[in-house]
Amino acid sequence: MSEKAVGIDAMEIHTGTLRLDLAETYAPAKDDDPGKYTKGLGLFASSFPDVYEDIVTMGANAARRLLERRGLTPADIGRIDVATESSFDNSKPVSTYIAGCLEQVYDEDFHHANKGERKFACISGTQSLDDAYNWIRAGRNRGRKALVVATDTALYERGDPGEATQGAGAVAMLISEDPDLVELSTAQGYGSADETDFLKPNQQFPSVDGKRSVQVYLARMREALMDYESVAGDTHPDDFALVPFHTPFPGMVRKAALLGFRHVARDTEYEDRLAEEIGRQPRREAFDDVGAFQDALSEYTDALAETDVYRDWYAETVEPTLELSRYCGNWYTGSVHVARASGLLEAAEAGRDLAGARLLVGSYGSGAQAEIHHETIQPGWADSIRALAVKDRLRDRYDLSFEEYERIHDAHNHEKETDVDALTTPDGEFVFDGWGRMGERKYRYV
Ligand code: COA
Repeated sequence: MSEKAVGIDAMEIHTGTLRLDLAETYAPAKDDDPGKYTKGLGLFASSFPDVYEDIVTMGANAARRLLERRGLTPADIGRIDVATESSFDNSKPVSTYIAGCLEQVYDEDFHHANKGERKFACISGTQSLDDAYNWIRAGRNRGRKALVVATDTALYERGDPGEATQGAGAVAMLISEDPDLVELSTAQGYGSADETDFLKPNQQFPSVDGKRSVQVYLARMREALMDYESVAGDTHPDDFALVPFHTPFPGMVRKAALLGFRHVARDTEYEDRLAEEIGRQPRREAFDDVGAFQDALSEYTDALAETDVYRDWYAETVEPTLELSRYCGNWYTGSVHVARASGLLEAAEAGRDLAGARLLVGSYGSGAQAEIHHETIQPGWADSIRALAVKDRLRDRYDLSFEEYERIHDAHNHEKETDVDALTTPDGEFVFDGWGRMGERKYRYV
């Protein structure tokens, strides 16, 4: 058994090359107030794939940049796990396509690497991290590292309330011993139940009960936090420098963070400090009636949201994790990993010294499962995260008109036959290159 720290050594993010501005382009076309998107959902723009982009190209492009940046070749990688809920094949995993792409640009192959594909809505990226961690911890990696790629085209049916939260992109993560970015831990908590909040029964676009999915997210996250505390001990608001959550849209995290803070602040000096201003948290045993207790609790929670104590905590530990998401939308499996990257990037840019500090990471997948674990930030974190060029890539996206957005959405709709020209010109990247004789997708490096 290896005793060394195991965790995320480095990461890369590849965004779809198109951008839909929600306030300027989407809201007027829908005849909506832009505030619904920018303030309510907390989103300014979505990332979209051009016609030559899909989950394979985005994943392979992120993975290639990651390997290049770390000076690695296929011989260094013993495992490639892909997490996605946008897969197009029920048998052949996306990881084989991504390995095939990478083999086009390396002299070596990945024949020695164990490859798979993980599915559990948005939480499978975190589950793939676990798989990689366990593989290294068990000493089965023969000195090699694992590549985890979370890649999705998170598209909804046109007109679905989820349409505004769409996004497309991939996160590639290198899992190794002595990581530069964060050490993963064995302390984990789960909240898992058979739910039908969001599903795709052999269909491309999801069937979503949006309002219910928000409630299920919160309920499962609460269970996961309590389960985490049963392993790690009681939590305290000062325990964590950043709290990245799965971010389908930042407004969702705003709700989860408030309930999370209320829970971890209970019976701490934070509750004492707040007592003068808004009273103490209502306790169930003080109420005969459950309805009265719930009313008191929601009144307390509304008041808590307005306090400086809560707002300061939120501004430092949660707000930085939402910065990238506001401009790229939901990337499903990649979303919580974008949140981690965003928090660390903002912290590095602000000059915060976080080596040795902890992250509390809250992942969620519909269907449904939440998982909470902590990670310890490593001494090399700031250089590792600053190497991400994600903000430049987000800025350089092609800005879609609404008509172009409609055409591009159709081009990615499996039910529609379309002949849509690309809006951008790929350069130094993998592209979709048509279909093979067995219905397989083909790729080329240009
Ligand atoms: N200015 C400011 N805020 C506004 C606003 C305006 N002009 N118009 C609406 N809002 C607020 C609403 O009050 C609401 O905030 P609240 O939830 O804090 O009350 C928020 O914007 C969203 O508005 P709502 O009317 O609820 O949006 P919707 O019904 O069109 O869709 C979802 C919201 C979440 C149901 C939808 O985006 C969805 O189905 N998403 C996909 C599923 C998902 O991501 N689930 C999350 C768990 S994974």
